[in-house]
Amino acid sequence: MEWFETVEAMRAWSRGRRARGETVGLVPTMGYLHRGHMALVARARECADRVVVSIFVNPTQFGPGEDFDRYPRDPERDRRMCEEAGVDAVFAPAPAELYPPGYQTYVTVEEVSRPLCGASRPGHFRGVATVVLKLFHAVEPDVAVFGEKDYQQLQVVRRMVRDLDVPVRIEGVATVREPDGLALSSRNTYLSPEERRQALSISRALGRAQALASSGVVEAARIADEVEGIIAGAGLRIDYVEVRHPETLEPVETVVPRAVVAVAAFAGDTRLIDNRVVVAGEDAGGAK
Ligand code: PAJ
Repeated sequence: MEWFETVEAMRAWSRGRRARGETVGLVPTMGYLHRGHMALVARARECADRVVVSIFVNPTQFGPGEDFDRYPRDPERDRRMCEEAGVDAVFAPAPAELYPPGYQTYVTVEEVSRPLCGASRPGHFRGVATVVLKLFHAVEPDVAVFGEKDYQQLQVVRRMVRDLDVPVRIEGVATVREPDGLALSSRNTYLSPEERRQALSISRALGRAQALASSGVVEAARIADEVEGIIAGAGLRIDYVEVRHPETLEPVETVVPRAVVAVAAFAGDTRLIDNRVVVAGEDAGGAK
């Protein structure tokens, strides 16, 4: 497995592969890899001849007072996991490689970045879009794989790729969960046993949202109320519970034919996000 720390070396390798007629898949990550990330690697292997994983804790997507400094890092473990998964190359630049002194250019994806996490974390998606575009330029992948766990991020990346004519195909992968329903996240490592128990209410509440939609309760406000009640009742502090259009993320009145229920909530100091695309049942009284 190759290990690159400069854009130049990364791009030279990738261009070499493509010159031989091979396709390249990219999985962007911030490291501290878990089974969720590895599901993206597995999808990339299905989609491309060669797989690159990038590992970069991107400073520009963290706000002041957020967890950039204490974000978990374990490069040796990440390297082993990539090797075992048959990853062909890891791109692990230092911050100054991507943001040298004098850096001043950013990508803003306007509408779709605004609500939800964009409202709670100003500048977050500007940092995400910027680094993802830079990673695309370093690797020049044919396909790039992102998780639906970060649902808004996936929509932001899709919109940027369309708007800026970036020649890459974006693949989304369903959220990987613990057997009890908790969505895997590098930040789960922050949770105390009690907070972890409370955190389970999020996936439980999203399950309830789908059950309501299946039984014909399709009003967004009604579903959001139920979800909030379950999560707040478990002792979490809600940042937002929103029912939105699955692509534009605009507010919707009902979940017919489908909508994304997106949640952000704090367990102690740890901010957790999760979501579920809810599909209205046959008896929901609307066109599907
Ligand atoms: P990170 O949180 O490390 O996540 C990297 C990728 O793994 C993202 O596409 C994310 O959606 C996906 N992922 C995380 N947990 C998952 C789970 N439980 N199931 C499925 N996929 C999961 O997201 C980022 O890093 C950064 O914002 C990045 C895109 C790398 C830009 O810095």
